[in-house]
Amino acid sequence: EETKLWGGRFDAKIDVLMEKFNSSISFDQQMWQADIQGSKAYAKALHKAKLITEAELEAMLLGLDNLEKEWSSEKFEIKPSDEDIHTANERRLSEIIGADIAGKLHTGRSRNDQVVTDTRLWLRSQLNIIKKHLCTLILAITSRAEEDINVLMPGYTHLQRAQPIRWSHWLMSYGVCLLRDMDKVVQIQHRVSTLPLGCGALAGNPFAIDRQFLADELKFQSVSLNSMDTIGNRDFIAEVLFWATQVCNHLSRLAEDLIIFASNEFSFVKLSDAFSTGSSLMPQKKNPDSLELIRGKAGTVLGRMTGFMATTKGLPSTYNKDLQEDKVALFEVCDTTAAMIQIAAGVISTLEVNQPAMKSALSYDMLATDVAYYLVRKGVPFREAHALSGQVVKKSEKLKCKLNEVPFSEMLQISDKFAKDIEEVWDFESSVEQYTSAGGTSKSCVLEQIKLVRIKLNEC
Ligand code: ARG
Repeated sequence: EETKLWGGRFDAKIDVLMEKFNSSISFDQQMWQADIQGSKAYAKALHKAKLITEAELEAMLLGLDNLEKEWSSEKFEIKPSDEDIHTANERRLSEIIGADIAGKLHTGRSRNDQVVTDTRLWLRSQLNIIKKHLCTLILAITSRAEEDINVLMPGYTHLQRAQPIRWSHWLMSYGVCLLRDMDKVVQIQHRVSTLPLGCGALAGNPFAIDRQFLADELKFQSVSLNSMDTIGNRDFIAEVLFWATQVCNHLSRLAEDLIIFASNEFSFVKLSDAFSTGSSLMPQKKNPDSLELIRGKAGTVLGRMTGFMATTKGLPSTYNKDLQEDKVALFEVCDTTAAMIQIAAGVISTLEVNQPAMKSALSYDMLATDVAYYLVRKGVPFREAHALSGQVVKKSEKLKCKLNEVPFSEMLQISDKFAKDIEEVWDFESSVEQYTSAGGTSKSCVLEQIKLVRIKLNEC
């Protein structure tokens, strides 16, 4: 007959369906290491507060070591009555070192402070892993941008050809927003690194447990300020979910761009076979599934985030079982985000750039702005220059010729400011090179972006 840790005041057994409904062991078991880590620290704090003897502490630590071995060698046996990782570990510890000693470990502790401690510890190492992947992705973008620095392509607004840019400038537009995400996660990590342990169920710890000692043991940067807030609030999870949603959102837009660029109509890029799949029916197909899944999963992550916010918004103070849902969202979102970042890095570093296709997509109408700038440099106010250049565009449409093919005599009729040196405008390379102010698409500016992103990445 298996008894519950909390069974003292109960007469009847829990309903079978309810037991399953209540259980979180199927997913929170992945926090087994954090749970043991937290228990070791707590055992030491109990000893420091003279609540257990030296011998009892030794026994607990040894038992917890054993537990660790069982988990890491996949020998830990989960019993149906193990509600969650905390009860499972405590039950097993009792079996190993005996209930007399194991029964003292939970003195003054609650699963309420325990679960948030575990989650924060787990998250701390997860965020480090995700950060490493993100760093790899940003570096893949910067090296690609450096290698391909001479490649020009059309830049788009409204998906309409707008102005010529460097392909590297497009790449770095994602490099810099992902760098911002890096910066944000560093800030989030500081807030995640707050110790909850020692807050008990909600009111605090009555046994003079040294929380600063616990924080030092578990390498938390600070001790939480209010026990009720500590055990009942999951804003640290919400901000990780939001952060991940933002990262996925960035990756989704990158994916969408590349899906368009990889279409036959554009053929600016070709995805490597490693990140494409075929069709079961159409032999010629090579589909950018990697990118489509990034775009699709970004939606799922967003849903997890909004779902979790909805779960928490109406909760009364402190712990309510609704909060158990936090880990369902968190684990999935962390997994998905880590995978998406790695796939994006793979796609970027292996794709093939079709430089001739990008070049031939550059059309002279994209230099209409440059015609206006030409006139500005001859002293014409920009508004007027814009209108005059517009007339040249209209003329080319009327004559059914390219913008650079409008006869000079026609140009002169539009403005006597046009001179022979207008020829110099019809050059995509020099068009791109005029954008020399910081952040622009000229070679020196893009190289500067690459340099700065690498420096800042090093500081994260
Ligand atoms: N499995 C629970 C969770 O994930 C642990 C906390 C349970 N606390 C309680 N008072 N029932 O939230």
